[in-house]
Amino acid sequence: MQTILVTGGAGFIGSNFVRYMLETHNDVRIVNLDALTYAGNLENLRDVENDPRYVFVKGDVRDKATVDAVFGDYAVDTVVHFAAESHVDRSITNPEIFLTTNILGTGVLLDSAKRHWNLRPDDKYCRDYRDGVRYLQVSTDEVYGALGKTGMFTEKTPLSPNSPYSASKTSADLLVRAYGETYGLPVNITRCSNNYGPYQFPEKLIPLMIRNCLTDTPLPVYGDGMQIRDWLHVHDHCAAIDTVLRKGAVGEVYNIGGNNEKANIEIIRLILKATGKDESLIRHVQDRPGHDRRYAIDNTKITTELGWSPDYTFERGMAETVQWYLNNQSWVERVVSGEYQNYYKKMYGNI
Ligand code: NAD
Ligand code: DAU
Repeated sequence: MQTILVTGGAGFIGSNFVRYMLETHNDVRIVNLDALTYAGNLENLRDVENDPRYVFVKGDVRDKATVDAVFGDYAVDTVVHFAAESHVDRSITNPEIFLTTNILGTGVLLDSAKRHWNLRPDDKYCRDYRDGVRYLQVSTDEVYGALGKTGMFTEKTPLSPNSPYSASKTSADLLVRAYGETYGLPVNITRCSNNYGPYQFPEKLIPLMIRNCLTDTPLPVYGDGMQIRDWLHVHDHCAAIDTVLRKGAVGEVYNIGGNNEKANIEIIRLILKATGKDESLIRHVQDRPGHDRRYAIDNTKITTELGWSPDYTFERGMAETVQWYLNNQSWVERVVSGEYQNYYKKMYGNI
């Protein structure tokens, strides 16, 4: 049986991934290591918490002793590292925690993986590892910076991050690369575009706009709303990560995208329509500092070399997502009942 350490498994993508893996494979055990920050919520995994193949450990990826104990106690042979501070706006007002969680946390995990998996950990020249081990870093298209009107990010696009968040994710990617090059650790990096789907914390564009529509709250559109993102349904992202784990070549980077470029304002109009609200809720507010204008992922490598492609059309994905938030309004209200209220006030004031 494969034992996968999933970090950040109580967050948006992590919880979808835990569920996806338990549903798709009989022969996996999942150890979910999560610090339960504002973005982590065990309620996201209520339906799997009694599955004998699932274990939750509350802990911080920056804490060496905890990470070492997890590797030792559970004989981990695969790591999928999601845990991160993930919101660009928060990184602009409070960059420090992004540096410690996203960079140092990745360093702690890599080092623990090397020590537990290397066949002669005290020999700095030893590049031999236990059979079948793999470390997968969940990264982002934001490491490539911003695009103009044309072009797409390939795996060869130079790294050029613009926000404290994306700079921290880029730094983490470089550490992963270094552990691959220097120590021969079997690593992969995946870089994906904007995810959407169930259990996304309502600080991010799509769930924030859905919640605001449902509560008749103004919709804060940054700048002209013409910034473009390439939307990927979270289920397709989980399937892509699973594919890289099974078929990815050691040391390779794989871009993952949904072939769905949309301007923010288009999405907001779609949500207004789906929730039966009108455009009087729209408020154009001051733009995000350093706002990346456009992202677009070239999927060629993962589709041609590994055979993955996205299943969801944007229309189906959005219809299901709006319906999920409609059906789960009590989940939304519980996750926004704490520090989110202060965050929202500080971020958006009285628009
Ligand atoms: P999220 O903010 O919803 O969840 C992050 C999870 O990490 C939470 O459960 C939180 O409790 C946990 N966590 C935070 N700090 C921790 C720490 N120090 N130790 C242990 N756990 C900690 O994030 P998400 O949107 O699910 O993103 C997951 C990963 O995917 C991140 O690495 C992010 O950079 C990457 N990513 C996200 C997107 C997206 O659109 N959401 C796109 C590309 C890449
Ligand atoms: O591209 C992948 C990245 O996507 C991930 O690495 C990040 O973890 C994830 O948060 C996301 O980053 P973005 O900054 O693209 O996502 P966000 O949902 O914050 O914003 C999407 C777009 O919507 C962006 O152009 C900013 C805009 N926006 C966002 C919010 C929250 C608004 O116009 N108003 C808002 O209130």
